[in-house]
Amino acid sequence: MLLVVAAPALAAGPNEVDAKDVVTFHEDVEPILQRSCQGCHRPEGVAYGGMKAPMALTTYEESRPWARSIARQVEAKRMPPWFASEETHGLFTNERILSQEEVDTILSWASTGARRGDPANAPEPVEWPTGWLIGEPDLVLDLAEPFWVDDDVKDLNISLKAEMITNEMLSEPRWIKAIEFRSGSDVVHHVVGSRIAAETETPGASGLIGGIAPGTEPFHLPDGAGRLLTPGTQLYFSMHYNKEPGVDTGVWDRSQMAFKFHPKDAKIDRIAKWEGVGNSDFEIPPGHENWIIGASKVFEYPTTIYGYLPHSHLRGLDAKYTAYYPDGTEEVLLDVPAYDWNWQTNYIYKEPKDIPAGTRVDVLMTYVNTEERNELTVLELDTTRAVQFGGPTTDEMMIGFIDYSEDRGDEQITETEGASAAATPAAGGAR
Ligand code: HEC
Repeated sequence: MLLVVAAPALAAGPNEVDAKDVVTFHEDVEPILQRSCQGCHRPEGVAYGGMKAPMALTTYEESRPWARSIARQVEAKRMPPWFASEETHGLFTNERILSQEEVDTILSWASTGARRGDPANAPEPVEWPTGWLIGEPDLVLDLAEPFWVDDDVKDLNISLKAEMITNEMLSEPRWIKAIEFRSGSDVVHHVVGSRIAAETETPGASGLIGGIAPGTEPFHLPDGAGRLLTPGTQLYFSMHYNKEPGVDTGVWDRSQMAFKFHPKDAKIDRIAKWEGVGNSDFEIPPGHENWIIGASKVFEYPTTIYGYLPHSHLRGLDAKYTAYYPDGTEEVLLDVPAYDWNWQTNYIYKEPKDIPAGTRVDVLMTYVNTEERNELTVLELDTTRAVQFGGPTTDEMMIGFIDYSEDRGDEQITETEGASAAATPAAGGAR
């Protein structure tokens, strides 16, 4: 790290300061932006899951006007967005954090005139992938009809049909290897793909097939694990649209989901499930600051966990997953001390986590139902009423999604089971 020398002893003008002693964009800041920011902050709005960050930070010209704002955001640890506690540092592939040294570099840069430095020392620009991040998809489904998000829409949760999967599109059942969603407009806040319409969903089952929100990556399954997709299936998009209402703000949306399949002859001996460990039977009292809701699940077989996605709505404060092992020990799997509904974050393991048969996983989430919460949200919450489970963002949910597969030894996995494992009712469609 380069330190800033405030006032050189010899009377040098600002342009004569030894370049090595000043933090500059090209030498010091640009590499950090490339590693930790440009994945989202780049032109054309191609970002994880198709969500756009408000501005690009790929050149000096783009970044300079934001220097102060960047400093504020990184100092407050709001950017890059990441919500898991230190305990799991290093475990997740999509972890987004800056070292203290990197934060200091950005702060020095912003407070010393946000200098350019010598373009000759700039790192090579990053070639960001265009098109689908999962590679050329085997199947792409659009919304069955484009959807008009009206001028007066501010916050809308709605379940929309995907194109029906016909025999022409898919001639035989195939095991899903990867799923990616692409939003069809700027006003998409979240998308979840589901086998059933959101209105009929309840927590605790696994009909969801994947979802995106700002910050979530495409979903990949390892070799040997799959989720079956059969011709004739009707899938749904659980869409969440969010924008400023007003004249001429309406837009057409036609979001898409794309699939890659395992090779036809691949041996699939594990069904990958995305299950919600959730609770729908709760009532958060009005004015309560600290209401805890829990749910748990015992895993009957040796299990491999691929990742987590904690989901609550605007009153959700935190989320914690703890494993209680059969030998009596316990381990925090994921702790999100400051949950933010705006950032539906998938925590995806670098190395999937194996847990023994008989492990119980408890998920606990805390909720606040007081007036102060309204300062943080775009929606007016009525904190004088008791809050129950419900689809609208102003109601609540408590779902600790877990992505996993079971090792059933010699027990045969049938295709029917593969399809039905994911065809049961699912939670969290309306986010
Ligand atoms: C996962 C995607 C993602 C990453 C990574 C990310 N950002 Fe952001 N950033 C966003 C989104 C989306 C917003 C707008 C929503 C918000 O402010 O929460 C935003 C907002 C901002 C803002 C506020 C803009 C405003 O309108 O005031 C700044 C500044 C910023 N980011 C800087 C950074 C910097 C610097 C980094 C890297 C250290 C970074 N971001 C990494 C997605 C990202």
